[in-house]
Amino acid sequence: MFHRLIRTLDLYDGLRLPVQIGREELLLIHEDGATWLVQRRCPHGEFPLERASVRGEVLRCPGHGLEFSLSSGQCRGAQGYCLKRYRIDYDGPWIGVSDL
Ligand code: FES
Repeated sequence: MFHRLIRTLDLYDGLRLPVQIGREELLLIHEDGATWLVQRRCPHGEFPLERASVRGEVLRCPGHGLEFSLSSGQCRGAQGYCLKRYRIDYDGPWIGVSDL
């Protein structure tokens, strides 16, 4: 099932859009022209990632400063933590997610 999140027209750099689908809390990020969909809360300490900074493909959690690769989910500097990522799908003008 396709869940609409936002229209592509409405994306802008710096966007952090928290969404809830069923029991899943997700965060849509748009930065430097790239769009990412990840779990909303940091896998380290559950800190909400809306205020995370993103540089290139690296997300820095404002909680304790751990950095995660947005392309692989791997944590830099602390093993055992992995940021869950979701595949983004498109339906006409909409960005959404199908696989949760
Ligand atoms: S809660 Fe994100 S680094 Fe600790």
